[in-house]
Amino acid sequence: MNKTFSPSFHTLRWEGGIDGTLQLLDQRKLPQEKEYLTCRAVDDLVEALVSLAVRGAPAIGVAAAYGICLGMQKAADHAPAGALALLDESKAKLAASRPTAVNLFWALDRMKKAACRFFAEQPAASVPDLRRRLLEEANAICEEDKQMCRAIGQNGLSLMPEDGGVLTHCNAGALATAGIGTALAAIYAAHQAGKRFTVYVDETRPLLQGARLTAWELAQYAIPSVLICDNMAAWLMKRGKIKAVIAGADRIAANGDTANKIGTLGLSILAKRFGIPFYIAAPSSTFDLSISHGRDIPIEERSADEVHAFAGRRVAPSAIPAYNPAFDITDAADITAIITEKGVFYPPLEKAIKDYLEPK
Ligand code: MRU
Repeated sequence: MNKTFSPSFHTLRWEGGIDGTLQLLDQRKLPQEKEYLTCRAVDDLVEALVSLAVRGAPAIGVAAAYGICLGMQKAADHAPAGALALLDESKAKLAASRPTAVNLFWALDRMKKAACRFFAEQPAASVPDLRRRLLEEANAICEEDKQMCRAIGQNGLSLMPEDGGVLTHCNAGALATAGIGTALAAIYAAHQAGKRFTVYVDETRPLLQGARLTAWELAQYAIPSVLICDNMAAWLMKRGKIKAVIAGADRIAANGDTANKIGTLGLSILAKRFGIPFYIAAPSSTFDLSISHGRDIPIEERSADEVHAFAGRRVAPSAIPAYNPAFDITDAADITAIITEKGVFYPPLEKAIKDYLEPK
């Protein structure tokens, strides 16, 4: 171990007690500006989620949990029933922000359950007591996410090559979680253990999460990295430059089919064609066991403007329509393994997911 990887920034942080605020690193402004954004109300956070000031499945989940705490600030004068109604209102607003990352719904459901359990166990409790309990739950979700990231890093490190190149897509790093990331956690752990591979970073059109965010994050830790355009991966693979591909996930169905940033599917097909291992790294909060097959995962479609533009500047005539699905679904059959905090799941993925994640 010759390097430490503790971020020099925080992706998201709650400031203060039950009347506090949620501070987010504004990812729309990276890498040019490192600016923090303060959310004081649910609507501020919804806007931050929709516009990708905060993004990445685990970070979306943690932010949403704190969003419930923001919403409950309006419940100060309410009776318990009114406070629970307000919680449902905030939950519905936050749930409508982004449809694909299941961590959002997972965190919101967990906050709702914590509230219901609290009043069931302590019927005489006050609304301020409930708000303290909800902040505790959001803090627990945040802490668990950090621990899951660390464990994913440790579980993934032996799968990373000693040298050569590792290709990653989008941003599945510290900027996408409360901790050190998922796919990038494995990369950080491997570098910490002395491995010396280069990270090839897909720029990740249309919103450039690779070029703007992953490249920035890897530079913070001096990890050798090379930026490529999305259409270069096949050529690098053919030339033997890529020894492994690793990406994050937004939702994993019970059979292992995996939704992640648009472009991941293409990489999985290429990796299979060139005999390169293709890994997904994700915490258990990204699995959706209620969905048996990837085709049932909702895929967010974003504004055509994002395709018409590059880095905020229009590059195509508006006369041509553009299509902008934000995610695609990689077939379980094309995934070499899924790295989780509970261990590495190998095919048959459906069985591994059941064995590790289904409540016994
Ligand atoms: O649209 P984004 O930037 O939220 O998409 C993010 C991704 O697709 C990530 O790869 C995924 O959420 C995993 S983050 C650990």
